[in-house]
Amino acid sequence: GYRAEDDYDYLFKVVLIGDSGVGKSNLLSRFTRNEFNLESKSTIGVEFATRSLNVDGKIIKAQIWDTAGQESGLANAICSVLKIEKVGRYVLLISRDPKGREGFDELEKFVREKQVSSCFLLDSGCERYRAITSAYYRGAVGALLVYDVTRHATFGSVERWLRELRDHADPNIVVMLIGNKSDLRHLVAVPTEDAKSFAERESLFFMETSALEATNVDNAFTEVLTQIY
Ligand code: GTP
Ligand code: MG
Repeated sequence: GYRAEDDYDYLFKVVLIGDSGVGKSNLLSRFTRNEFNLESKSTIGVEFATRSLNVDGKIIKAQIWDTAGQESGLANAICSVLKIEKVGRYVLLISRDPKGREGFDELEKFVREKQVSSCFLLDSGCERYRAITSAYYRGAVGALLVYDVTRHATFGSVERWLRELRDHADPNIVVMLIGNKSDLRHLVAVPTEDAKSFAERESLFFMETSALEATNVDNAFTEVLTQIY
């Protein structure tokens, strides 16, 4: 029968994690808007987007959260958060960059562009970072842990991301390891078999994707959502 557009049976929060530049934001935009951007900038604060899927006749609304994968530059601006504000699909973490003005200027510009009326400064230490990290993982039932198949260091970081998940996320969270940028076949630096056996050892699901070519992106998200369900 008829169902309203925003009607759903289940709402599942899924987080994207992994080093900077591995393609988290493009996986999100490919899955939720079928968009790809070759010149995307590093994510500021936290963004999220939703998409509803039909699984076994039930409507599952996936709320996917995305943040910057690095702890330098702009991500530092997240360290001392004063206020969390929702503006459309953005959640702004308005803060003062403890490492100087640079990141904060950019954050201020972003806030201006998004027409957020107020932007506050706060002097505080990085202990606040922990609060934000917990907020990011709170309620998450799925995670896509992404590395870049052309940069081995991003695969090396996967263990650190797993530790972060263990420290902050629900122990039952469904985790899928994602080797993204599979379109760059001639540049592959992480053999599929290595990633596959690592995933088996750690009891993770595993897929290689290309946000650019839209390969396996829907499959990866759908598999995580189906496993949660
Ligand atoms: P942070 O926000 O800094 O953590 O980075 P991110 O993980 O969100 O990476 P982002 O999605 O911004 O992508 C980084 C760069 O990789 C951009 O230039 C993208 O166009 C490119 N990229 C993302 N996915 C793919 C892919 O599947 N194939 C190729 N060839 N490039 C990709
Ligand atoms: Mg990003």
